[in-house]
Formats: sequence, structure tokens, C-alpha cells
Amino acid sequence: MKNISLRKATIEDKALVVDFDYSLDVVEHIELKREEKITKAILCEECFIILVDNREIGFVIFDYRFFDQGWVGLIVIDEEYRGKGIGGKTFDLICKQCKANKVFTSTNSSNIPMQKALTKVGFSFAGKINGLDDGDPELFYYKKTNNRETKS
Ligand SMILES: CC(C)(COP(=O)(O)OP(=O)(O)OC[C@H]1O[C@@H](n2cnc3c(N)ncnc32)[C@H](O)[C@@H]1OP(=O)(O)O)[C@@H](O)C(=O)NCCC(=O)NCCS
Repeated sequence: MKNISLRKATIEDKALVVDFDYSLDVVEHIELKREEKITKAILCEECFIILVDNREIGFVIFDYRFFDQGWVGLIVIDEEYRGKGIGGKTFDLICKQCKANKVFTSTNSSNIPMQKALTKVGFSFAGKINGLDDGDPELFYYKKTNNRETKS
């Protein structure tokens, strides 16, 4: 396995992060005002660049706004690097750096790669919410980190 690491994004990374997100889904990028959200996340030090052997191949947005637990709000990996275990390794790294004792995230029922990446690295299903995207329920997952006692 190549060396996978995370580094905090700076404002100089904004164009790169916006580009990853734009390439994923132009319509969502525009309609959901993702450029604004990405800028805010970078300024709040909540956006991390995913590196493979020092090459920037994606990003993850991580904060503590979900009931004070770790929350992965968005992860995007460049298409050519998907399905190689990088998503799973990113979740491991997020769990290591998390200062709360659980990390939560969610994804659409239709997103099988995300569900597989999560369950492979030990995330458990937490529940389902209907009504966000019509006909495509949101599935929530979590993993215990047991970090709170030692890190905060
Ligand atoms: C979701 C995402 C972050 C997962 O990262 P990843 O590096 O691709 O994940 P992993 O390689 O660790 O695991 C993905 C698993 O799904 C499998 N998979 C990939 N595409 C698949 C498909 N179309 N159908 C079924 N399984 C698929 C992979 O084979 C792998 O499982 P395996 O290791 O058992 O073979 C990444 O695919 C991505 O950026 N997707 C686009 C953006 C996105 O959907 N983000 C999440 C929004 S909530």
C-alpha cells in the first residue's frame, strides 16, 4: 500500500478542492453552494487534503458539529484513485485524529462504494433518514475512537 496521509488545507488549496468537487457533480456543486462551503471549511481548518505519496488526490471535510462528535461531512477522491482502499484508510486517519470518542458520517443508500469503504474499516450502521433526497434515503454510520480520554 502506498503512503496515504492527510494535511490541513489552506486557502491556497481552494481551487484544487473546488475542482475535485466540481468534477464529482457540477449540478450539486452549484446548487448546494459548495464553493462557499469549501471556503468556510478551509478557513475553519476543517478541510483536509488526502495525499498518496505526497500527490493530492482528494479531500475530506471533518468537524464536530454533529452532537459534538466527529463528523465527516464530505469526502471526495479523484475518480482514478477510487476503489483502491484510499477512502477506508482516510477514515482510519480521521478516527485517529478525532478528539471525540465517535466519528459519524452519512451517505445515500445508492452510494455502495461509500458504504463498503465504511464497513470495511469497522464503521457500524446507525440508522436511516428518509426525506432528504427523494427515493434515496440517507444512511448514517459511526465508529468508536476511544480518543476522548487521552486527547482532549
Ligand atoms: C466514496 C469514496 C470516498 C470511497 O473511497 P474509495 O477509496 O473509493 O473506497 P475504498 O476503495 O476504501 O472502498 C470502496 C469499496 O467499494 C467498492 N466499489 C467501488 N465501486 C463500486 C461499485 N460501483 N459498486 C460496488 N462496489 C464498488 C470497492 O471495490 C471497494 O470495496 P472492496 O475493497 O471490498 O473491493 C470514493 O469512492 C469517492 O470519492 N466517491 C465519489 C464521492 C462520494 O461518493 N463521496 C461520498 C459522499 S457521501
